[in-house]
Order: sequence, then structure tokens, then C-alpha cells
Amino acid sequence: MRAVWITKAGGPEVLEVRESPDPRPGPGEVRIAVRAAGLNFAEVMARQGLYPDAPKPPCVVGYEVAGVIDAVGAGVDGLAAGQRVLALVRFGGHAESVCAPAERVLPMPDDLSFTDGAALPVNYLTAYHMLFRVANLRRGARVLVHMAAGGVGLAVLQLCRTVPEVVTFGTASAAKHAVLREEGCTHPIDYRTGDYAARVRELTGGEGVDLVLDPLGGRDWKRGLRLLRPVGHLVAYGFANLSAGERRSVLRLAGQFAGVPLLTPFAMMSRNQTVSGVNLGHLWSRGDLLREELAALLDLWGAGAVRPRIDGVYPFEEAAAAHRRLGERRNIGKVVLVP
Ligand SMILES: NC(=O)c1ccc[n+]([C@@H]2O[C@H](COP(=O)([O-])OP(=O)(O)OC[C@H]3O[C@@H](n4cnc5c(N)ncnc54)[C@H](OP(=O)(O)O)[C@@H]3O)[C@@H](O)[C@H]2O)c1
Repeated sequence: MRAVWITKAGGPEVLEVRESPDPRPGPGEVRIAVRAAGLNFAEVMARQGLYPDAPKPPCVVGYEVAGVIDAVGAGVDGLAAGQRVLALVRFGGHAESVCAPAERVLPMPDDLSFTDGAALPVNYLTAYHMLFRVANLRRGARVLVHMAAGGVGLAVLQLCRTVPEVVTFGTASAAKHAVLREEGCTHPIDYRTGDYAARVRELTGGEGVDLVLDPLGGRDWKRGLRLLRPVGHLVAYGFANLSAGERRSVLRLAGQFAGVPLLTPFAMMSRNQTVSGVNLGHLWSRGDLLREELAALLDLWGAGAVRPRIDGVYPFEEAAAAHRRLGERRNIGKVVLVP
């Protein structure tokens, strides 16, 4: 099979399409002939050597695929060869063929395309899990969402629309604001030319927000905490600030880590604040929960409440261009790789 290999840490030029033997499904697994695979910011950071969870290079990453089952391991019930499915995989998704535990494989509705199917699992699960399991989003809440025009950001905006009167503040480059509005963002904010925290304060009459969803990390976590009104909640779910340009900078890493706020339960208590962490990649032992949330998302898709916005579809040979698209902040929505 062909796969996109990260040959070593570095710029997009370190990506190579290589041949290797097809994997064999173990007990409880199915093998999927991949038709489309999602590209996530985490995988861009993995290529840059900034994602500690990724396997050591040379490696094949990729957390999500859509395709057709072509082999079934021992002890698998309810899934069969020929079925169209989407799946969460712990790496190896950017390949023509990948094995996945049956628990993390769901049949796809007939009218869901492979491209859209590959765009759902990571982005929408992360958004759904944060909003509805962790933060208990309520009617009328004010939500600040960073990287709002990215895959997770647009999923958050769409899911916020399913709860009445939620007010959203979305940070993104100015050229993406029209799309943010289309996707229901109440207040798009250009964080690149102005101070987003000052703008949020201005828009809320100085009160702040109820929920901050922050995948930026470092000093932005501190700023997010200051933007919370009482009973506010900050969900930390990424550290994109570690990545700037295509290569790792030790100086930048040190500066960002130094900016991480130090929190104590006492301070949280006196400020009536909650801080949560979300890392889907560390939820593998809770396959039951991931499956339940993914099923709920497919229901929302069926009801027309969520629709992935595809920024672009790239053949494996053009994986470097796909990575650049994210790293250069040009994507609006999901970038998908196809064999
Ligand atoms: N914890 C979890 O389980 C989990 C799961 C999925 C994703 N995440 C995190 O969520 C975040 C969003 O992921 P995604 O896959 O949705 O992102 P994405 O679609 O790749 O978003 C890329 C966009 O983010 C913005 N951005 C902000 N800071 C950036 C930086 N330093 N370098 C490049 N782009 C930057 C850019 O748009 P603008 O300039 O318009 O802002 C860029 O176009 C990432 O931090 C990712 O690690 C976490």
C-alpha cells in the first residue's frame, strides 16, 4: 500500500509517499481501504516535531479515515467487508489501508460522501465533547472560539447553533470573516491586527464570556481566564502557539511555556472558574464514550444540523501542499487527503 510518510522532523518537504505491505487486522479489528483521510493541525505539528504523542519518524500519522472495509479480524460482530465506514485510528490514517478496532468504526449513511465522512470524526467529536460533555453549553451562553475558521472552529460554530441564543466570538484572519458569519458566528474578530481580548470586553460591555475554547495555549490561556465572567469555564485543548512558520524554534517554545498560567484549586474557588483539559488522543480507553458521541454527531448530520466545510482535497502526492495550507493559515475548514 501507499502512504504519506513523515521521514524526519522538518518542513513539508520531509513528506514522502512510500510503499509498504498492507496491514493485517488483528482480533477485534477491521481493515479499511481508505478513500479519504482528514488532515489535522496535530499532524502538521507532528511533522514539525512539536507533537509528543506522535510516533517517532519515519512514521505515518492520521487520526481519521472514511473508506470501505476489506478484511475483518476474528471476533468482530456487526461489521462486514464491503461496508462504507468512518473510523478513528491512532495514527496510520494517511495511507491506502489501515486497521482499526471495531469499537471505533461506524457505518456511514449512504448519502454521506467519503470526503465529508473523513472530515467528521476528529473535528466534530472534539467540538461536541467540549461543548456538550465538558462545558454543558446552555441557552444564551457567550462562547469565545479561537481558530474559528479551522476544522474544529467551524464545527464548534455549527454545534453552537443547535442551542438557542448562544452568542459566539470567533477569532480568525480577516479574510475568513464572511464565512464565519455564514456559519453563524455572531462576532468575528481579527486577532492578527488587533487585541482580541480588548474587543471581547468591548462587545460584552466589560463583562466577558461564559466559555473560552482555547487551542492556542501559553499566554492565551492566561488571557482567556481573564475574559471569563463568574462561573466561566476555560477549556484548554491545544498548544498551536508552539508552531510558527514551518520549523521548530526553541526560543518560541521557551517563551510559550513560560506564559502558561499556574493554577491552584484555591484560586479557582475564589474566582468561581473552571478549567478543563480535552485531548481526544488520550481518550482511547473510553471507546464507549467516543462511540456514543460519534453516533450523536451522525444523527446531527442526518438532521442537517452539521455539515463539514471542505477547504480542499489533495492526493497523497500533494500532501506537502496540504500541510502548507494549514501552516500558512490559509485553510477555511477541513483539508482532506485522498489516495
Ligand atoms: N485536544 C484535542 O483533542 C484536539 C483535537 C483536534 C484539534 N485540536 C487542536 O485544535 C486546534 C485546531 O485544530 P484544527 O485541526 O481544527 O485546525 P486547522 O483547521 O488546521 O486550523 C488552522 C488555522 O488555525 C489558525 N491558526 C492559529 N494559530 C496558528 C498557528 N500558530 N499556525 C497556523 N495556524 C494557526 C489559522 O487560521 P486563522 O489565521 O484564520 O486563525 C489556520 O488557518 C489545534 O490547536 C489542534 O491541535 C485538539
